[in-house]
Amino acid sequence: MLRGLFKDFLERPGETYERVVQLYGPVGSGKTSTTYRFGVNYQAEASKRGVPLSFIHVNCKLEGGSRFILYQTILQRLAPELATRGHSSGEILRLIVHYLRAEGKYLLLALDDVDYLVRRSKEEEREGGVVYDLTRLSELYLGEYQNVIGVIFIARDPGFLELLDPSERSSLGNIVVRLPSYDSRQLRDILGARVDEAFKPGTVDEETISYVADLAASRKENSGDCRFALDVMLTSGLIADAEGARKVSIEHVRRAVGEEFWGLSSEDLLNLDEQGVAILMGAIQALQHRRTPYVSIKEVYDFYLVSCEAQGIRSLSYNGVLERVRDLSLRGIVDYREDRGLSIAGASLEDLSRMLRGLERRKALA
Ligand SMILES: Nc1ncnc2c1ncn2[C@@H]1O[C@H](COP(=O)(O)OP(=O)(O)O)[C@@H](O)[C@H]1O
Ligand SMILES: [Mg+2]
Repeated sequence: MLRGLFKDFLERPGETYERVVQLYGPVGSGKTSTTYRFGVNYQAEASKRGVPLSFIHVNCKLEGGSRFILYQTILQRLAPELATRGHSSGEILRLIVHYLRAEGKYLLLALDDVDYLVRRSKEEEREGGVVYDLTRLSELYLGEYQNVIGVIFIARDPGFLELLDPSERSSLGNIVVRLPSYDSRQLRDILGARVDEAFKPGTVDEETISYVADLAASRKENSGDCRFALDVMLTSGLIADAEGARKVSIEHVRRAVGEEFWGLSSEDLLNLDEQGVAILMGAIQALQHRRTPYVSIKEVYDFYLVSCEAQGIRSLSYNGVLERVRDLSLRGIVDYREDRGLSIAGASLEDLSRMLRGLERRKALA
């Protein structure tokens, strides 16, 4: 699909206009891995034809929290020698475009989890924004062919479009690719292939693989999440290993599921830094203590301070925590409302201890 959309550039390099693609799909449907694989292959194919094209994939949640950081990240990847301090985001963007033009190079850009970036930046600046910038590069060089051959905007769903103003939305165009979530059979195939790579032969039966695939496919939330399936498989293996069992049993799988997170994507939790974890712990403890659906940030802050002390980390100011709570909310990890405070769907003592056990296990692996 993506290949077809960008085929013409390989046939007529330098004679195409920027192509904007929106890619949507639920958690764990393979958006990141599919795009990444496509981009890397595409770059290699261009290179085989002697066309200098860079594919740059930016994960906005990790390295694109604002327009400025995003453009800096792109420039850093594209031409680290040009990356300097003291430029505004607009200047960096112009620097990127001029560089490509002067060097006769091409760029294919993928902005992953771009909805996060749009939500964040719309809080800070109403005007313009990343989508506006990146879809209107041709206006910097009116009517000429483009060195940025395409931008792929990746998000779970088109919900963030509502935050864009109408002109920005229309500049996204109407090329939309949708990835469906994996069904049980597809998950079985993926798990099977991964198990062959990662487990000793004969330690995981077909039946066990099917069980994990079915569990992942029929989950209430994020059904078909491939990452969940792989996480459960891996954790089951670790549990079996720790017991000295020769095979991964259905019972190991059940216990592994018990350690999984409540409805959240493990990717989001794994990406939290120690401050994020401490704030989340503070929030959970405040909720448990108060036994109300919502708690105030002041209450979260008190528990957060305890949690920082227990873990020996430096604590942020109250406003610092408030800002991070807003960010956790944008990431979908907690629910924060100005008027009511903070809430987490389904937080219980049990959930907490499971989550922590799971997180520690994964961190130890990483
Ligand atoms: N077709 C596939 N074959 C093998 N592994 C896959 C496949 N699709 C997804 N995965 C794995 O599943 C996990 C989630 O995929 P990812 O691309 O990160 O999903 P998304 O970006 O849609 O949330 C990753 O660990 C990825 O390697
Ligand atoms: Mg992804």
